[in-house]
Amino acid sequence: MLISSDKPDSSTNGYSHYDFIPSTKEKSHKNGFSHPVKNGSIPTYAQVQTPPKELKEEFEETPYLIVLTIYLCYAVLMVFGYLRDFMRKSGLEKNFMAKELNREVSTLDIHVDLEKQVAEFLGVEDSIIIGMGFATNSTTIPSLVSKGCLIFSDELNHASLVLGCRLSGAKIRVFKHNNMKDLEKQIQSAIIEGQPRSHRPWKKIIIIVEGIYSMEGTIVNLPALIDLKKKYKCYLYVDEAHSIGAIGPRGRGVVDYFGCDPNDVDILMGTFSKSFGAAGGYIAGSRNTIDHIRVYCYNFMYATSMSAVVAKQIYTSMQIVMGKDGTNEGLKRINQLQRNTHYFRQKLKQKGFIIYGNEDSPVVPLMLFFPSKIAAFVRHLLKHGIATVGVGFPATSLTTARARFCISAAHTKEMLDEALSVVETAGRLIMVDYSRKPRSQENVIY
Ligand SMILES: Cc1ncc(COP(=O)(O)O)c(C=O)c1O
Repeated sequence: MLISSDKPDSSTNGYSHYDFIPSTKEKSHKNGFSHPVKNGSIPTYAQVQTPPKELKEEFEETPYLIVLTIYLCYAVLMVFGYLRDFMRKSGLEKNFMAKELNREVSTLDIHVDLEKQVAEFLGVEDSIIIGMGFATNSTTIPSLVSKGCLIFSDELNHASLVLGCRLSGAKIRVFKHNNMKDLEKQIQSAIIEGQPRSHRPWKKIIIIVEGIYSMEGTIVNLPALIDLKKKYKCYLYVDEAHSIGAIGPRGRGVVDYFGCDPNDVDILMGTFSKSFGAAGGYIAGSRNTIDHIRVYCYNFMYATSMSAVVAKQIYTSMQIVMGKDGTNEGLKRINQLQRNTHYFRQKLKQKGFIIYGNEDSPVVPLMLFFPSKIAAFVRHLLKHGIATVGVGFPATSLTTARARFCISAAHTKEMLDEALSVVETAGRLIMVDYSRKPRSQENVIY
Protein backbone atom coordinates (compact mmCIF):
# COMPACT_ATOMS: atom_id res chain seq x y z
CA MET A 1 0.00 0.00 0.00
CA LEU A 2 1.48 3.29 -1.01
CA ILE A 3 1.11 6.01 1.58
CA SER A 4 0.95 9.34 -0.16
CA SER A 5 -0.14 12.49 1.55
CA ASP A 6 -1.91 14.59 -1.04
CA LYS A 7 -4.03 16.11 1.66
CA PRO A 8 -2.82 17.32 5.00
CA ASP A 9 -3.27 14.22 7.15
CA SER A 10 -1.32 14.20 10.36
CA SER A 11 -2.36 10.61 11.16
CA THR A 12 -0.24 8.93 8.46
CA ASN A 13 3.20 9.52 9.88
CA GLY A 14 2.69 11.59 12.99
CA TYR A 15 2.85 15.01 11.38
CA SER A 16 1.72 16.79 8.27
CA HIS A 17 3.94 18.67 5.84
CA TYR A 18 1.47 21.52 6.20
CA ASP A 19 2.96 22.10 9.63
CA PHE A 20 5.99 23.51 7.85
CA ILE A 21 4.08 25.89 5.58
CA PRO A 22 4.26 29.47 6.79
CA SER A 23 1.08 31.18 7.94
CA THR A 24 -0.84 33.52 5.56
CA LYS A 25 0.80 36.49 7.20
CA GLU A 26 4.27 35.07 6.73
CA LYS A 27 3.42 34.01 3.13
CA SER A 28 2.73 37.58 2.15
CA HIS A 29 6.50 38.17 2.30
CA LYS A 30 8.18 36.72 -0.79
CA ASN A 31 10.60 33.77 -0.24
CA GLY A 32 9.22 33.35 3.26
CA PHE A 33 11.44 36.15 4.49
CA SER A 34 9.79 38.80 6.58
CA HIS A 35 11.42 42.20 6.64
CA PRO A 36 14.29 41.33 8.87
CA VAL A 37 14.67 44.40 10.98
CA LYS A 38 11.49 46.26 10.17
CA ASN A 39 10.27 46.14 13.73
CA GLY A 40 13.63 45.29 15.20
CA SER A 41 13.12 41.47 15.23
CA ILE A 42 15.37 38.92 13.48
CA PRO A 43 13.45 36.15 11.61
CA THR A 44 13.51 32.72 13.31
CA TYR A 45 14.70 29.50 11.57
CA ALA A 46 11.08 28.36 11.12
CA GLN A 47 10.20 31.65 9.45
CA VAL A 48 12.93 31.45 6.84
CA GLN A 49 12.45 27.74 6.05
CA THR A 50 11.04 26.59 2.74
CA PRO A 51 8.49 23.74 2.96
CA PRO A 52 10.17 20.30 2.70
CA LYS A 53 9.39 17.84 -0.03
CA GLU A 54 6.33 15.66 0.34
CA LEU A 55 7.12 12.43 2.27
CA LYS A 56 6.47 9.18 0.47
CA GLU A 57 7.00 5.90 2.28
CA GLU A 58 6.23 2.52 0.88
CA PHE A 59 4.92 -0.50 2.71
CA GLU A 60 3.08 -3.65 1.75
CA GLU A 61 1.88 -6.52 3.92
CA THR A 62 3.84 -9.81 3.53
CA PRO A 63 1.68 -12.08 1.38
CA TYR A 64 0.08 -14.82 3.42
CA LEU A 65 1.50 -17.58 1.19
CA ILE A 66 5.08 -16.37 1.77
CA VAL A 67 4.62 -16.34 5.55
CA LEU A 68 3.29 -19.89 5.41
CA THR A 69 6.18 -21.07 3.22
CA ILE A 70 8.80 -19.54 5.56
CA TYR A 71 7.33 -21.30 8.60
CA LEU A 72 7.14 -24.54 6.61
CA CYS A 73 10.82 -24.19 5.70
CA TYR A 74 11.71 -23.77 9.39
CA ALA A 75 9.77 -26.92 10.17
CA VAL A 76 11.65 -28.83 7.48
CA LEU A 77 14.99 -27.47 8.77
CA MET A 78 14.09 -28.60 12.26
CA VAL A 79 13.41 -32.11 11.02
CA PHE A 80 16.81 -32.06 9.27
CA GLY A 81 18.36 -30.84 12.52
CA TYR A 82 17.03 -33.90 14.33
CA LEU A 83 18.26 -36.06 11.49
CA ARG A 84 21.73 -34.46 11.69
CA ASP A 85 21.86 -34.97 15.48
CA PHE A 86 20.94 -38.59 14.96
CA MET A 87 23.63 -38.99 12.28
CA ARG A 88 26.24 -37.34 14.48
CA LYS A 89 25.41 -39.58 17.41
CA SER A 90 25.60 -42.68 15.30
CA GLY A 91 28.87 -41.49 13.72
CA LEU A 92 27.40 -41.32 10.20
CA GLU A 93 27.96 -37.60 9.71
CA LYS A 94 31.54 -36.47 9.31
CA ASN A 95 30.80 -32.76 8.92
CA PHE A 96 33.31 -32.02 6.18
CA MET A 97 32.24 -28.49 5.46
CA ALA A 98 32.93 -25.41 7.59
CA LYS A 99 30.88 -22.28 7.09
CA GLU A 100 31.31 -18.94 8.71
CA LEU A 101 29.02 -17.21 11.20
CA ASN A 102 27.68 -19.89 13.51
CA ARG A 103 29.59 -22.58 15.37
CA GLU A 104 26.57 -24.84 15.08
CA VAL A 105 27.29 -25.27 11.37
CA SER A 106 31.04 -24.67 11.38
CA THR A 107 32.22 -27.23 13.91
CA LEU A 108 34.42 -29.84 12.33
CA ASP A 109 35.43 -33.17 13.79
CA ILE A 110 38.86 -31.75 14.60
CA HIS A 111 37.26 -29.01 16.76
CA VAL A 112 35.26 -31.57 18.71
CA ASP A 113 38.33 -33.80 19.11
CA LEU A 114 40.44 -30.86 20.28
CA GLU A 115 37.82 -29.75 22.81
CA LYS A 116 37.68 -33.27 24.22
CA GLN A 117 41.46 -33.47 24.37
CA VAL A 118 41.83 -30.07 26.10
CA ALA A 119 39.33 -31.20 28.77
CA GLU A 120 41.24 -34.45 29.22
CA PHE A 121 44.59 -32.63 29.38
CA LEU A 122 43.32 -30.34 32.09
CA GLY A 123 41.37 -33.00 33.99
CA VAL A 124 37.95 -31.33 33.74
CA GLU A 125 34.62 -32.30 32.16
CA ASP A 126 34.46 -30.12 29.07
CA SER A 127 36.05 -27.27 27.13
CA ILE A 128 35.45 -24.94 24.22
CA ILE A 129 38.00 -23.54 21.81
CA ILE A 130 37.96 -20.05 20.31
CA GLY A 131 39.98 -18.78 17.33
CA MET A 132 41.78 -15.98 19.21
CA GLY A 133 43.31 -15.87 22.69
CA PHE A 134 42.55 -12.21 23.32
CA ALA A 135 38.90 -12.66 22.33
CA THR A 136 38.64 -15.77 24.52
CA ASN A 137 38.94 -13.54 27.59
CA SER A 138 37.21 -10.46 26.32
CA THR A 139 34.09 -12.30 25.14
CA THR A 140 33.84 -15.03 27.77
CA ILE A 141 33.87 -12.85 30.89
CA PRO A 142 30.75 -10.92 29.75
CA SER A 143 28.94 -14.26 29.34
CA LEU A 144 29.67 -15.15 32.97
CA VAL A 145 29.03 -11.95 34.93
CA SER A 146 26.93 -8.83 34.46
CA LYS A 147 25.40 -5.94 36.41
CA GLY A 148 24.95 -6.86 40.06
CA CYS A 149 28.05 -9.09 40.03
CA LEU A 150 31.46 -8.24 41.45
CA ILE A 151 34.86 -8.97 39.89
CA PHE A 152 38.12 -9.00 41.84
CA SER A 153 40.87 -8.46 39.30
CA ASP A 154 44.63 -8.62 39.95
CA GLU A 155 46.21 -5.21 39.26
CA LEU A 156 48.58 -6.76 36.70
CA ASN A 157 45.99 -8.70 34.71
CA HIS A 158 46.39 -8.76 30.92
CA ALA A 159 44.52 -6.23 28.75
CA SER A 160 42.20 -8.95 27.38
CA LEU A 161 41.00 -9.70 30.93
CA VAL A 162 40.60 -6.01 31.71
CA LEU A 163 38.55 -5.50 28.54
CA GLY A 164 36.37 -8.54 29.31
CA CYS A 165 35.69 -7.21 32.82
CA ARG A 166 34.75 -3.78 31.52
CA LEU A 167 32.46 -5.16 28.80
CA SER A 168 30.61 -7.34 31.31
CA GLY A 169 28.97 -4.41 33.13
CA ALA A 170 29.89 -5.97 36.49
CA LYS A 171 31.51 -3.90 39.26
CA ILE A 172 35.31 -4.24 39.18
CA ARG A 173 37.61 -4.03 42.21
CA VAL A 174 41.35 -4.29 41.71
CA PHE A 175 43.54 -5.97 44.32
CA LYS A 176 47.30 -5.71 44.82
CA HIS A 177 49.32 -8.07 42.66
CA ASN A 178 49.18 -11.64 44.03
CA ASN A 179 48.45 -10.23 47.50
CA MET A 180 46.08 -12.59 49.26
CA LYS A 181 45.76 -10.40 52.37
CA ASP A 182 44.56 -7.43 50.35
CA LEU A 183 42.19 -9.67 48.38
CA GLU A 184 40.67 -11.20 51.52
CA LYS A 185 40.18 -7.79 53.12
CA GLN A 186 38.42 -6.54 49.99
CA ILE A 187 36.21 -9.66 49.74
CA GLN A 188 35.16 -9.30 53.36
CA SER A 189 34.15 -5.66 53.03
CA ALA A 190 32.37 -6.37 49.69
CA ILE A 191 30.29 -9.10 51.31
CA ILE A 192 29.47 -6.94 54.34
CA GLU A 193 28.55 -3.85 52.32
CA GLY A 194 26.82 -5.61 49.38
CA GLN A 195 25.97 -3.71 46.21
CA PRO A 196 26.36 0.08 46.18
CA ARG A 197 23.29 2.03 47.39
CA SER A 198 20.86 -0.94 47.60
CA HIS A 199 23.24 -3.02 49.81
CA ARG A 200 21.74 -6.15 48.29
CA PRO A 201 24.04 -9.19 48.23
CA TRP A 202 26.16 -9.52 45.08
CA LYS A 203 24.70 -11.94 42.52
CA LYS A 204 28.15 -13.48 41.96
CA ILE A 205 31.68 -12.72 43.07
CA ILE A 206 34.45 -13.85 40.75
CA ILE A 207 38.22 -13.62 41.23
CA ILE A 208 40.21 -13.24 37.99
CA VAL A 209 43.95 -13.96 37.93
CA GLU A 210 46.70 -15.22 35.63
CA GLY A 211 48.79 -18.38 36.07
CA ILE A 212 52.13 -16.77 35.19
CA TYR A 213 52.09 -12.99 34.86
CA SER A 214 53.38 -12.06 31.43
CA MET A 215 55.34 -8.96 32.47
CA GLU A 216 56.41 -9.98 35.99
CA GLY A 217 57.21 -13.68 35.63
CA THR A 218 55.40 -14.27 38.94
CA ILE A 219 53.35 -17.41 39.56
CA VAL A 220 49.89 -17.01 41.08
CA ASN A 221 49.43 -18.23 44.66
CA LEU A 222 46.83 -20.79 43.59
CA PRO A 223 46.47 -22.85 46.80
CA ALA A 224 45.76 -19.69 48.82
CA LEU A 225 43.29 -18.50 46.20
CA ILE A 226 41.41 -21.80 46.24
CA ASP A 227 41.14 -21.56 50.05
CA LEU A 228 39.81 -18.01 49.76
CA LYS A 229 37.27 -18.83 47.08
CA LYS A 230 35.96 -21.76 49.10
CA LYS A 231 35.85 -19.75 52.32
CA TYR A 232 33.87 -16.87 50.78
CA LYS A 233 31.99 -18.90 48.12
CA CYS A 234 33.42 -16.97 45.17
CA TYR A 235 34.18 -18.19 41.66
CA LEU A 236 37.74 -18.44 40.35
CA TYR A 237 38.92 -17.68 36.79
CA VAL A 238 42.58 -18.46 35.95
CA ASP A 239 44.20 -17.34 32.68
CA GLU A 240 46.99 -19.81 31.92
CA ALA A 241 48.25 -18.17 28.70
CA HIS A 242 51.88 -18.36 29.86
CA SER A 243 51.71 -21.35 32.18
CA ILE A 244 49.91 -24.02 30.15
CA GLY A 245 52.35 -26.41 28.55
CA ALA A 246 55.17 -24.63 30.40
CA ILE A 247 55.11 -25.50 34.10
CA GLY A 248 54.03 -28.38 36.27
CA PRO A 249 55.54 -31.89 36.25
CA ARG A 250 53.28 -32.84 33.31
CA GLY A 251 53.22 -29.38 31.72
CA ARG A 252 49.58 -28.86 32.65
CA GLY A 253 49.93 -25.39 34.08
CA VAL A 254 49.66 -23.90 37.56
CA VAL A 255 47.11 -26.46 38.77
CA ASP A 256 49.60 -29.18 37.96
CA TYR A 257 52.49 -27.12 39.39
CA PHE A 258 50.85 -26.86 42.82
CA GLY A 259 49.20 -30.30 42.65
CA CYS A 260 45.72 -28.76 43.13
CA ASP A 261 42.42 -30.27 42.01
CA PRO A 262 41.46 -28.74 38.61
CA ASN A 263 37.80 -28.88 39.62
CA ASP A 264 38.53 -26.27 42.30
CA VAL A 265 39.10 -23.70 39.56
CA ASP A 266 35.75 -22.77 38.03
CA ILE A 267 37.11 -21.39 34.77
CA LEU A 268 40.42 -22.54 33.32
CA MET A 269 41.44 -20.33 30.43
CA GLY A 270 44.54 -20.61 28.27
CA THR A 271 45.92 -19.72 24.87
CA PHE A 272 47.55 -21.82 22.18
CA SER A 273 49.82 -19.02 20.99
CA LYS A 274 52.68 -19.75 23.39
CA SER A 275 53.55 -23.36 24.27
CA PHE A 276 51.55 -24.88 21.41
CA GLY A 277 53.03 -22.66 18.71
CA ALA A 278 49.64 -21.93 17.17
CA ALA A 279 46.80 -19.43 17.80
CA GLY A 280 43.53 -19.31 19.70
CA GLY A 281 42.35 -20.00 23.21
CA TYR A 282 40.29 -22.38 25.32
CA ILE A 283 37.91 -22.24 28.26
CA ALA A 284 37.59 -25.39 30.34
CA GLY A 285 35.55 -26.37 33.37
CA SER A 286 32.44 -28.25 34.40
CA ARG A 287 29.98 -29.38 31.72
CA ASN A 288 27.30 -26.99 33.02
CA THR A 289 29.61 -23.99 32.84
CA ILE A 290 30.82 -24.82 29.35
CA ASP A 291 27.27 -25.46 28.10
CA HIS A 292 26.33 -22.02 29.40
CA ILE A 293 29.29 -20.40 27.62
CA ARG A 294 28.47 -22.20 24.38
CA VAL A 295 25.13 -20.41 24.35
CA TYR A 296 26.03 -17.00 25.78
CA CYS A 297 29.58 -16.28 24.54
CA TYR A 298 29.40 -13.95 21.52
CA ASN A 299 32.59 -15.30 20.05
CA PHE A 300 31.41 -18.86 20.16
CA MET A 301 28.08 -18.00 18.55
CA TYR A 302 29.06 -15.44 15.94
CA ALA A 303 32.75 -15.67 15.09
CA THR A 304 34.33 -17.96 12.54
CA SER A 305 35.67 -21.15 14.06
CA MET A 306 39.36 -21.85 14.44
CA SER A 307 41.08 -22.86 11.22
CA ALA A 308 41.15 -26.65 10.92
CA VAL A 309 44.89 -26.56 10.18
CA VAL A 310 45.59 -24.62 13.37
CA ALA A 311 43.34 -26.94 15.36
CA LYS A 312 45.22 -29.95 14.04
CA GLN A 313 48.58 -28.37 14.93
CA ILE A 314 47.39 -27.79 18.53
CA TYR A 315 45.89 -31.26 18.74
CA THR A 316 49.14 -32.89 17.64
CA SER A 317 51.43 -30.84 19.87
CA MET A 318 49.14 -31.50 22.84
CA GLN A 319 49.28 -35.21 22.08
CA ILE A 320 53.08 -34.98 22.26
CA VAL A 321 52.95 -33.16 25.61
CA MET A 322 50.53 -35.82 26.88
CA GLY A 323 52.76 -38.63 25.64
CA LYS A 324 49.97 -39.93 23.39
CA ASP A 325 52.33 -40.11 20.43
CA GLY A 326 53.98 -43.11 22.06
CA THR A 327 57.21 -41.24 22.98
CA ASN A 328 58.37 -39.30 26.03
CA GLU A 329 59.36 -36.33 23.86
CA GLY A 330 56.78 -34.08 25.54
CA LEU A 331 57.98 -34.83 29.05
CA LYS A 332 61.59 -34.39 27.94
CA ARG A 333 60.79 -30.92 26.61
CA ILE A 334 59.01 -29.88 29.80
CA ASN A 335 62.04 -30.90 31.86
CA GLN A 336 64.34 -29.19 29.36
CA LEU A 337 62.37 -25.97 29.67
CA GLN A 338 62.76 -26.05 33.45
CA ARG A 339 66.51 -26.66 33.14
CA ASN A 340 66.92 -23.82 30.66
CA THR A 341 64.84 -21.49 32.81
CA HIS A 342 66.81 -22.13 36.01
CA TYR A 343 70.15 -21.82 34.22
CA PHE A 344 69.30 -18.59 32.38
CA ARG A 345 67.77 -16.90 35.43
CA GLN A 346 70.65 -17.79 37.75
CA LYS A 347 73.31 -16.73 35.26
CA LEU A 348 71.63 -13.35 34.67
CA LYS A 349 71.51 -12.73 38.42
CA GLN A 350 75.20 -13.62 38.73
CA LYS A 351 75.96 -10.99 36.09
CA GLY A 352 74.38 -8.31 38.26
CA PHE A 353 71.02 -7.85 36.57
CA ILE A 354 67.77 -7.42 38.48
CA ILE A 355 65.48 -10.24 37.44
CA TYR A 356 61.84 -10.36 38.51
CA GLY A 357 59.54 -13.30 39.09
CA ASN A 358 59.52 -16.91 40.17
CA GLU A 359 62.60 -19.04 39.50
CA ASP A 360 60.40 -21.61 37.71
CA SER A 361 58.89 -19.05 35.36
CA PRO A 362 60.12 -19.21 31.73
CA VAL A 363 59.02 -15.58 31.39
CA VAL A 364 62.18 -13.73 32.46
CA PRO A 365 61.93 -9.93 32.94
CA LEU A 366 65.28 -8.11 33.10
CA MET A 367 64.82 -4.68 34.65
CA LEU A 368 66.00 -1.64 32.67
CA PHE A 369 63.93 0.89 34.69
CA PHE A 370 64.60 3.84 32.32
CA PRO A 371 62.19 3.88 29.33
CA SER A 372 64.98 5.49 27.29
CA LYS A 373 67.16 2.39 27.67
CA ILE A 374 64.63 -0.03 26.12
CA ALA A 375 65.41 0.69 22.48
CA ALA A 376 69.19 0.71 22.99
CA PHE A 377 69.13 -2.63 24.80
CA VAL A 378 66.76 -4.37 22.39
CA ARG A 379 68.63 -3.06 19.33
CA HIS A 380 72.00 -4.14 20.65
CA LEU A 381 70.70 -7.66 21.19
CA LEU A 382 69.00 -7.78 17.81
CA LYS A 383 72.25 -6.75 16.13
CA HIS A 384 73.78 -9.89 17.63
CA GLY A 385 70.89 -12.12 16.54
CA ILE A 386 68.95 -12.24 19.80
CA ALA A 387 65.27 -11.38 19.86
CA THR A 388 63.82 -9.94 23.03
CA VAL A 389 60.78 -7.86 23.89
CA GLY A 390 61.20 -4.33 25.26
CA VAL A 391 58.36 -3.39 27.58
CA GLY A 392 57.57 0.09 28.87
CA PHE A 393 54.68 2.34 29.83
CA PRO A 394 51.69 1.73 29.66
CA ALA A 395 52.32 -2.05 29.84
CA THR A 396 54.43 -1.33 32.96
CA SER A 397 54.61 1.69 35.25
CA LEU A 398 56.72 4.62 33.99
CA THR A 399 59.69 3.73 36.18
CA THR A 400 59.79 -0.04 35.67
CA ALA A 401 60.69 -0.52 32.00
CA ARG A 402 62.17 -3.90 31.23
CA ALA A 403 63.23 -6.41 28.61
CA ARG A 404 61.42 -9.73 28.60
CA PHE A 405 63.00 -13.03 27.57
CA CYS A 406 60.86 -16.05 26.84
CA ILE A 407 62.80 -19.26 27.33
CA SER A 408 62.05 -22.26 25.13
CA ALA A 409 62.73 -25.99 25.45
CA ALA A 410 64.33 -25.78 22.02
CA HIS A 411 67.17 -23.58 23.33
CA THR A 412 70.42 -25.44 23.83
CA LYS A 413 73.06 -24.61 26.47
CA GLU A 414 75.29 -23.14 23.74
CA MET A 415 72.50 -20.84 22.59
CA LEU A 416 71.82 -19.71 26.15
CA ASP A 417 75.53 -19.07 26.80
CA GLU A 418 75.85 -17.04 23.62
CA ALA A 419 72.77 -14.99 24.56
CA LEU A 420 74.10 -14.48 28.08
CA SER A 421 77.39 -13.12 26.80
CA VAL A 422 75.63 -10.65 24.46
CA VAL A 423 73.29 -9.58 27.29
CA GLU A 424 76.28 -9.08 29.58
CA THR A 425 78.02 -6.80 27.05
CA ALA A 426 74.80 -4.83 26.46
CA GLY A 427 74.27 -4.56 30.22
CA ARG A 428 77.74 -3.02 30.79
CA LEU A 429 77.39 -0.73 27.75
CA ILE A 430 73.95 0.59 28.64
CA MET A 431 74.63 0.33 32.39
CA VAL A 432 71.66 -1.73 33.48
CA ASP A 433 73.44 -4.21 35.78
CA TYR A 434 71.88 -2.50 38.78
CA SER A 435 71.73 -5.29 41.35
CA ARG A 436 73.38 -4.46 44.69
CA LYS A 437 73.40 -8.10 45.80
CA PRO A 438 76.81 -9.79 46.03
CA ARG A 439 77.64 -11.42 42.70
CA SER A 440 78.17 -15.11 43.31
CA GLN A 441 80.87 -16.85 41.30
CA GLU A 442 79.37 -20.28 42.01
CA ASN A 443 79.23 -22.68 39.13
CA VAL A 444 75.66 -22.92 37.82
CA ILE A 445 74.83 -26.52 37.04
CA TYR A 446 73.00 -27.02 33.76
C1 LIG B 1 47.73 -13.47 30.04
C2 LIG B 1 47.33 -13.38 28.61
N1 LIG B 1 46.05 -13.67 28.26
C3 LIG B 1 45.65 -13.60 26.98
C4 LIG B 1 46.52 -13.24 25.96
C5 LIG B 1 46.03 -13.14 24.54
O1 LIG B 1 46.45 -14.23 23.81
P1 LIG B 1 46.73 -14.20 22.23
O2 LIG B 1 47.98 -13.41 22.06
O3 LIG B 1 46.89 -15.64 21.89
O4 LIG B 1 45.57 -13.56 21.56
C6 LIG B 1 47.85 -12.95 26.28
C7 LIG B 1 48.80 -12.57 25.22
O5 LIG B 1 49.95 -12.42 25.36
C8 LIG B 1 48.27 -13.02 27.63
O6 LIG B 1 49.53 -12.73 27.99
